[in-house]
Amino acid sequence: MNNKATININDNTHDIDIITGSEKEVALDISKLRSDANLITLDAGFKNTGSCQSAITFLDGEKGILRYRGYSIEELAEKADFLEVAYLLIFGELPTQDQLNKLSDDIKERAIIDEDLRIILNSFPKSAHPMGILSSLTSGLVAFDPSAVDIDDEEDMYDAILNLLAKIPVLVAWVYRRRKGLPLEYGDTSLGYVENLAKMMFQRPNKEYIQNKTVVSALNKLLILHADHEQNCSTSTVRIVGSSHAGLFASISAGISALWGRLHGGANQAVIEMLEAIDSDGGDTKKYMLKAKDKTDPFRLMGFGHRVYKNFDPRAKIIKVAADEVLKDLGINDPILDIAKGLEKEALEDKYFVDRKLYPNVDFYSGIIYKALDIPAEMFTVMFALGRLPGWVAHWREMRIRKEPIGRPRQVYIGQTHRLFSDIKSR
Ligand code: ACO
Repeated sequence: MNNKATININDNTHDIDIITGSEKEVALDISKLRSDANLITLDAGFKNTGSCQSAITFLDGEKGILRYRGYSIEELAEKADFLEVAYLLIFGELPTQDQLNKLSDDIKERAIIDEDLRIILNSFPKSAHPMGILSSLTSGLVAFDPSAVDIDDEEDMYDAILNLLAKIPVLVAWVYRRRKGLPLEYGDTSLGYVENLAKMMFQRPNKEYIQNKTVVSALNKLLILHADHEQNCSTSTVRIVGSSHAGLFASISAGISALWGRLHGGANQAVIEMLEAIDSDGGDTKKYMLKAKDKTDPFRLMGFGHRVYKNFDPRAKIIKVAADEVLKDLGINDPILDIAKGLEKEALEDKYFVDRKLYPNVDFYSGIIYKALDIPAEMFTVMFALGRLPGWVAHWREMRIRKEPIGRPRQVYIGQTHRLFSDIKSR
C-alpha cells in the first residue's frame, strides 16, 4: 500500500504519511499538517482520532474481537488469573511462574496503608459517593509517599506500580466496608489477589470467612474483562494527565474520576437502577420493551447496545455464563434478577433489537453479579475501577516510556473577534 496520501487545499498539495498498525489499521498522520498547511483537524469527542500508537490492547467492534497483548479475551478469562493478566498488560508478556510469585509476594509486602489514611476516609460523610472517595484516597496516597517516580529507573517504576496494585484493593474493600458499617480490615497474605479481595470485602467480624469458589471465579473474570479497553475516556484521561509528568497516583486518580460518569463506568449502576424502577412499577417487562422501542419515549434498555461492539460484546458472552453460575450457586431469588432475565429473553427474540443488533453488553451482566454479591449499586463503578487499574497503569507506563509529548489538543475558535474594552459604567 502507498505510504503517503495527498490532500489538495486551495490548489496546494500536501503529503500526509500513512501509518499502518500491526492489525492493518490505517491512519493518516496529520501531525505536520499545521506546520505545513496551517490546518488543524476537527473531531469532537475524538471519535475518529488516534491519540497514540499503542501495543497493549486490540479491539475490533465489528467482529467482536478483544485482545490484550495479542491474547484473546476468551482465553484469558478462562485460563488466566487477574494478576497474570495485570502483569501481561503492564509488562507485555505473560509472567513465568517465578515472575508471578515475585509479583504476588511484592504486592503482599506493600498491601499496607498508612493508618492516617483511615482518618481521611472516616472524615467523608457516609453518604459520599464511593468513586469520589476512591479518587480522593488515591490522590491522598501520594502525600504519604511523595517521592517522584524516575521513569528511567525500572525499579522505581516497578515499585510505584506495585504499590498501586497492592493498596487500591485495600482501599476498595475499606470504601465498601465503611458504607456497610463494617470494621476496616487488612488482607490475608496467605491468599491470592482475588481471594484476598473477596475476604477483605465480605468477611464478617463475628463469623469465620469461607471462600466461595464460584464467587472468586466470577470476580476474577469480571476484573479480567474490565482490565483494559484501549483509548476509552478514563484511559485517555490517565494518559493525558500523565503526559504533563504528573505522577502515577495522580494520573490514576484522574482516571477514576473519568470512570465515575454514567456514560462510562456508571452504566452498570444504571442497569440495576432501571431494573429496580421496573420492579417498583409492577415488574411489567413487556411495558418497558414497548417504551424502549417507542421513538417518542427517551427510555432505553440500559445494558443493551454498545458504541463499539456492533455485533456482540465478547465480554458479555463470557460474563453471562459467570452470572448464571453465581445466581445458581448462591441460590439467589431476587425479583430484580428475574426482571433482568425476562428482559434479556424478550429482547433477544424481539425484531427491533435483533434488527439493530442490540445485545446485552458487559454492564448488563456485571451489575447482576455485583447485585447478587450484595454489593451496593454505587460500588459497582469502584469494582470496575479496580479491574481497569492494570490497563490504566499499562497505558501510563507506555506513554512515559515512549516519551510522548504533553497532550494538548487544538480548537476552532468560534467566539467574539477583537473588540474594545468597555468601561463598567457604560455596559
Ligand atoms: N434501547 C433501545 N433502543 C436502542 C438502545 C437501547 N439500549 N440502544 C440503541 N438503540 C437503538 C437506537 O434508538 C437506534 O435506533 P434507530 O436506528 O431506529 O434510530 C439504534 O438502536 C442504534 O442506536 P445508536 O444510538 O445509534 O447506537 P450508539 O452506538 O450511538 O449507542 C449506546 C450505543 C450509547 C451504548 C446505546 O446502545 C445505549 O444507550 N445503550 C444503553 C446504555 C448502556 O448500556 N451503556 C453502556 C455501554 S457499555 C460500556 O460503556 C462499558
